[in-house]
Amino acid sequence: MSFVGLGAKVRALPSCRWSRRPSVLQQKQLATRPRIVFRGNSTSASVTEAVKEAPKKAGRGFRRTMIGTSLAIVLIGGYFYVTDTRASIHRYAVVPLIRWLLPDAEDAHHIGVSSLKTLYKYGLNPRERGSIDDDGALATEVFGYTLANPIGISGGLDKHAEIPDPLFALGPAIVEVGGTTPLPQEGNPRPRVFRLPSQHAMINRYGLNSKGADHMAAVLRKRVQDYAYAHGFGLHELAEQRVLDGEAGVPPGSLVSGKLLAVQVAKNKVTPDSDIEAIKRDYVYCVERVAKYADILVVNVSSPNTPGLRDLQAAAPLTAILKAVVASAKSVDRKTKPYVMVKVSPDEDSDEQISGICEAVWNSGVDGVIVGNTTNRRPEPLPKGAALPPKEQPVLKETGGYSGPQLFDPLVALVARYRSLLDQGPSVSAAAAVTAEPDQENVPVVETPAVEKFTPKVLFASGGITTGKQAREVLDAGASVAMMYTGIVYGGVGTVTRVKQEMRQVKKDE
Ligand SMILES: Cc1cc2nc3c(=O)[nH]c(=O)nc-3n(C[C@H](O)[C@H](O)[C@H](O)COP(=O)(O)O)c2cc1C
Repeated sequence: MSFVGLGAKVRALPSCRWSRRPSVLQQKQLATRPRIVFRGNSTSASVTEAVKEAPKKAGRGFRRTMIGTSLAIVLIGGYFYVTDTRASIHRYAVVPLIRWLLPDAEDAHHIGVSSLKTLYKYGLNPRERGSIDDDGALATEVFGYTLANPIGISGGLDKHAEIPDPLFALGPAIVEVGGTTPLPQEGNPRPRVFRLPSQHAMINRYGLNSKGADHMAAVLRKRVQDYAYAHGFGLHELAEQRVLDGEAGVPPGSLVSGKLLAVQVAKNKVTPDSDIEAIKRDYVYCVERVAKYADILVVNVSSPNTPGLRDLQAAAPLTAILKAVVASAKSVDRKTKPYVMVKVSPDEDSDEQISGICEAVWNSGVDGVIVGNTTNRRPEPLPKGAALPPKEQPVLKETGGYSGPQLFDPLVALVARYRSLLDQGPSVSAAAAVTAEPDQENVPVVETPAVEKFTPKVLFASGGITTGKQAREVLDAGASVAMMYTGIVYGGVGTVTRVKQEMRQVKKDE
């Protein structure tokens, strides 16, 4: 650019400036613009300076643009990478970092839940990209719904139903929230959650810490209201009911097509173990509060951390509790009623105990069983013959339920046993009880054996599942859904996506 040309431009400025009346906006802009002042002989010197400065400024501007653009690319690229469940950073950097920064496993649990909640609020949560389930390769039928895949997240990870949606975004077709109890309860004193990193296992004695069923109902109701508003149903109570009645075309619990929300209910610790009526009231209280917002209700009688809870798995008390829950679930004010499942322990595994549970399942009319919870046993370290590191040996002595990969082999065997027993149908006594259900009172007793007409019970499997091959194995053993908890703690937010990918691979290799 020539000096003359620039001078002409500079000289032209004043006349240009006053050639017409600037608008209010222009006046503001002019006021903030650096002014060029001409004073006698200094004019040409200033202009020379300006000429020297111009390329520098242009260079600086270019550099700023480049830095800005690069930063934007890094941020956008980083956003897409970090929020993708396939990113290996979650498994190999975030999980070890959390373990290192937060030695107390419960702190890590709280931080994990609140981070997911906050990230979801701002649209920054990790999620499965690319609708990978849309190919239908993993689709499965459960309770008449076609689920996108057969993977679930087990109870206890989202105890207060704070993050069902961020959990759904990680890719499972089932998310189980809770367990919730009628009254709020603190659970056991801390510390109450422990890691065994060499085993990718945990021991917990949370003791069903819960904010109470009323709190959970309020949280879940708000979620439905938000959904109704966001999807054009409005704000009024009728809007909420229309969504719950299925007018939005999504299951009323999950609010996501191809996915189901399970809500787990339990009794309070203070409710006496011997008072079966009080125990029934506890479960029914929870059902009356939360059932409306659930696709599946899960009756927890298998937590090892509430004294006496597992005794409720004996046939008589279990039948009484489950009957009460089923009746209450049927009276929910919603077009479709929630299905009811009972979550049983892996430790009550004698033939007598399993057949007692199956009898209660048939007699009560529940729809299925979640086989497996944490174990009171202390399994041998893996791989076989390995010794537990000295640091972890005292942890093994902690009271609580053990979870992790060692539960897997016994789980497969247990699922197969439940499948085989339940597939034999109700026993004669159970069949009689089923035909005597109140809503069938006037139906004449049919002569043909009930065995030929029963609807098969649905099984979900929970215990030590960490790979696609294992998920496939429990499905082959008779489960419809493979659920995970500890595997996600050690594998990070990409675990469900990875397991599903591995399942696809297993299918291809067959
Ligand atoms: C820290 C922790 C808390 C849990 N809380 C519950 C709970 O509230 N209700 C329940 O039924 N199971 C609870 N579980 C058990 C899990 O849902 C699951 O059944 C069990 O851990 C076995 O599966 P996994 O080996 O995949 O973890 C909890 C497990 C862990 C590790």
